Amino acid sequence: MSTWLAGRVLENRHWTDALFSLRVEAPRLDFEAGQFVRIGLEPALVRAFSFVNPPHDPVLEFYGIVVPQGPLSPRLARLEPGASLQIASNPAGFLTLSQVPDADTLWLVSTGTGIAPFLSILRTETPWRRFRTVVLVHAVRHASELVYRDLIGKLVNENRLRYVTFVSREAAPGSLAGRIPAAIRDGRLEAAAGAPLDERAHVMLCGNPQMLRDAAAALAERGLRKHRRRNPGHITVESFW
Ligand SMILES: Cc1cc2nc3c(=O)[nH]c(=O)nc-3n(C[C@H](O)[C@H](O)[C@H](O)COP(=O)(O)OP(=O)(O)OC[C@H]3O[C@@H](n4cnc5c(N)ncnc54)[C@H](O)[C@@H]3O)c2cc1C
Ligand SMILES: NC(=O)c1ccc[n+]([C@@H]2O[C@H](COP(=O)([O-])OP(=O)(O)OC[C@H]3O[C@@H](n4cnc5c(N)ncnc54)[C@H](OP(=O)(O)O)[C@@H]3O)[C@@H](O)[C@H]2O)c1
Repeated sequence: MSTWLAGRVLENRHWTDALFSLRVEAPRLDFEAGQFVRIGLEPALVRAFSFVNPPHDPVLEFYGIVVPQGPLSPRLARLEPGASLQIASNPAGFLTLSQVPDADTLWLVSTGTGIAPFLSILRTETPWRRFRTVVLVHAVRHASELVYRDLIGKLVNENRLRYVTFVSREAAPGSLAGRIPAAIRDGRLEAAAGAPLDERAHVMLCGNPQMLRDAAAALAERGLRKHRRRNPGHITVESFW
């Protein structure tokens, strides 16, 4: 059973007409980077949102997209500083590094807002303590949706992170065209990252459920299989809908 905590919006940053990041003051919550929590404007209308902030940061941060016909996301996008937000007291989820076995390369592969839990993970020290190479992959429709570039660029400049982007609905210099599963199959993803996608890797996938299925199928053709506690593998997934 969850109880509801009162949060207060500190900032609502709009990256594009549809993409927003909420920073929220709230009572401290115990969670692990990669987890999510249910938020809403009233207990009858709540949705899961991944934390973008790391656990040690007292200000909560969520990254969202407006689904025009969706009941909650358009309302969240319109929240102004000072507005109230309900937050469940019980974060949850298994898209966390404590669930991931040791590997040489950690691949964090996302579409759209599926980058959110990986941003939280990348704001902790754990990836670099545990993995020799860390790759972040982000696929979006338009280049303007390649968000959090300051945070990511800093990690890239420090040689801690390799960053590969896909832009699928316009030409975008510096980004791959098309979709992630095709680029796994034809070797473009490995070439762009300069890292192998083989049994020495662990791949965390987050975002569009069809991408999760298609990418897992492409990885299975390379001998990678879903990770389960009783049957260790190489793929961990979280679906956003
Ligand atoms: C574990 C988990 C974590 C999540 N974390 C986030 C997050 O960090 N940020 C976020 O924006 N959403 C996240 N979501 C989705 C979120 O819970 C809502 O579904 C979303 O905000 C839309 O809410 P809604 O009420 O407007 O529409 P809903 O009625 O919830 O959804 C309507 C439709 O919109 C589409 N949709 C839903 N979410 C998305 C999305 N994120 N991107 C593209 N299309 C979508 C799907 O087709 C869905 O059927 C997460 C979902 C889960 C299960
Ligand atoms: N992104 C926008 O411009 C925008 C603006 C306003 C509202 N919205 C709303 O937001 C929702 C969509 O959000 P989104 O654009 O973040 O998510 P999305 O539709 O999941 O697209 C994000 C990326 O994932 C790719 N993708 C989709 N299915 C895939 C699959 N099976 N395998 C591999 N890659 C796949 C897309 O490629 P493809 O392009 O090839 O599909 C795109 O590059 C919709 O409800 C839409 O109405 C979006």
